[in-house]
Amino acid sequence: MIALGSDHGGYRLKQEIIQYLEKQKLEYKDYGCDSEESCDYPVYAKKVAEAIVSGECDRGILICGTGIGISIAANKVKGIRAALCHDTFSAQATREHNDANILALGARVVGSGLALKIVDTFLHTEFSDDERHKNRIRQIE
Ligand code: RB5
Repeated sequence: MIALGSDHGGYRLKQEIIQYLEKQKLEYKDYGCDSEESCDYPVYAKKVAEAIVSGECDRGILICGTGIGISIAANKVKGIRAALCHDTFSAQATREHNDANILALGARVVGSGLALKIVDTFLHTEFSDDERHKNRIRQIE
């Protein structure tokens, strides 16, 4: 199950990601926001982060204008490794090396075509399971 969250700046891109997930028949849960009306990204970062640490969802996607605020907020929750990625190389590397459990995107930074490729890469790349990387993640924890 994929947890989705955004503020108003990320709302439209989140709707495109929902369409992509539905086409791919991937299950998701949308934790808001529900419109382009101004709202606070930490609220949605916390909802998605908690859905992941509780085990309710496996991975998350968070979107705000830049992706910065929402990733900073999500990373305050213990157990969360949120990665802000605006290219597919980073999305692949953060899954393989950091076992990132949340992808953060900036809707005002990337177009939806690239954003969907980043989402696709993030969701279809597994952690490398290498002892070096596991040890570094333990150090983060
Ligand atoms: C909202 O205007 C904007 O500040 C927010 O979406 C995000 O970019 C913050 O990091």
